[in-house]
Amino acid sequence: MYEQFCPVRDVKDKVGETVKLAGWVRTSRIQKKLAFIVLRDGVAEIQCVVFQPDVSPETWEAAEKLTLESSLIVTGDVSKHPKMEGVYEIQVKEIEIVNLAENYPISKKEHGTEFLMDHRHLWVRSSKQAAILRIRDEMIKASRDFFYDNGFFCFDSPIFTPNACEGTTTLFDVDYFGEKVYLSQSGQLYQESGIMALGKTFCLGPTFRAEKSKTRRHLIEFWMLEAEAAFYDFEDNIKLQEDYVCYVVNRVLERRRTDLETIERDTVALERVTHPFPRIRYAEAVEILQGKGFDFNLGDDFGSPEETALAEDFDKPFFITHWPADMKAFYMKNAPNDPSLLLASDLMAPEGFGELIGGSQREDDADVLLEKIKKHKLPKEYFEWYLDLRRYGSVPHSGFGLGIERTVCWICGLHHIRESIPFPRMLYRKTP
Ligand code: 4AD
Ligand code: MG
Repeated sequence: MYEQFCPVRDVKDKVGETVKLAGWVRTSRIQKKLAFIVLRDGVAEIQCVVFQPDVSPETWEAAEKLTLESSLIVTGDVSKHPKMEGVYEIQVKEIEIVNLAENYPISKKEHGTEFLMDHRHLWVRSSKQAAILRIRDEMIKASRDFFYDNGFFCFDSPIFTPNACEGTTTLFDVDYFGEKVYLSQSGQLYQESGIMALGKTFCLGPTFRAEKSKTRRHLIEFWMLEAEAAFYDFEDNIKLQEDYVCYVVNRVLERRRTDLETIERDTVALERVTHPFPRIRYAEAVEILQGKGFDFNLGDDFGSPEETALAEDFDKPFFITHWPADMKAFYMKNAPNDPSLLLASDLMAPEGFGELIGGSQREDDADVLLEKIKKHKLPKEYFEWYLDLRRYGSVPHSGFGLGIERTVCWICGLHHIRESIPFPRMLYRKTP
């Protein structure tokens, strides 16, 4: 069945030919003897024009009764739009209604956020939401391509795990046949095993954080691209992040420009994303904030207002490096000439979109790592396997994790993270 339909995006190459399209009604209106139906097929949309004297009574009747989001099959001739360059139309010969939609709940009028979120299963059909989700798809595809092209192997981390990678305050407990495990906060620890086997690895999967904060940047379930590489030091890791982020942004600019136009994203801001990215140390960031009048001290973590204030000084992503040792996770390596600081970096988005990436060089010494595990009050028995990686052929290594949804928000210019994933899971939202 599917084979016989022409994708809407291919119609431009078929002027003068008869095509059969299948899709849904985006809009329809009748003007005397003319019906104008905009059909969308999931990728593109096109206006179909029905002229009553040219079609059978059945087709005209179908055109008249079509409702928003009805599904249909249209047969017609492709023509150029009489006035608009590069726009095409279908001169309809026949319409077959597949399903006449009931009164569609989402209309052009302003709906409240809660209403749209309750109807997320339908809201994803809107032009804007569909464009965002296609951009997200392109980012994911580009991410895989980038790492494959650069010699990384996909090495999937488990979702059920007894290990708290990112602190014990945001864990989701799961009953695992009478024993407690957690939903993964990060696949990183397992990537560190992967690189000792395969050299360079990545994973792209869902991660979970029981974040009690209700902000526009936090999801409970979000997707992370995590990369790890053996014999990569802090500098190599920074360069890898720059290359990766530039690659993804370029791919979206190249392949999803129409979608960026649909959501009215300022693409000039994205075109500025070239390496190298500026860097500041954590201590400098504190000074900048104090200079801007923030009541902010060494050891404080950045919230959204601080992130936005810092981003004012940069027109592309920028790194914040050398974080104080007690501010970050247990696995990070201390800076060689100042052990009070970490070889850790956060990549911040410009325009105030917040943290995109967390990364670091990893502690590779078994004894030092054990001390860190104890200091963070983590259960040593569950980290024995992780310590093994330092006992059997340990090497300097580094890695990072990029939040897919945070990056979608930035690339698409979204105010709230709820629109960056098909079905967001947030503090007060777990349906549909
Ligand atoms: O900075 P995070 O916590 O780093 C890690 O989990 C490391 N273990 C990753 C690694 O080195 N392999 O998280 C990484 C990124 C953040 O920069 C942010 O983009 C995103 O994940 N992130 C969230 N996105 C949405 N909702 C949340 N609650 C998020 N928490 C983190
Ligand atoms: Mg972080």
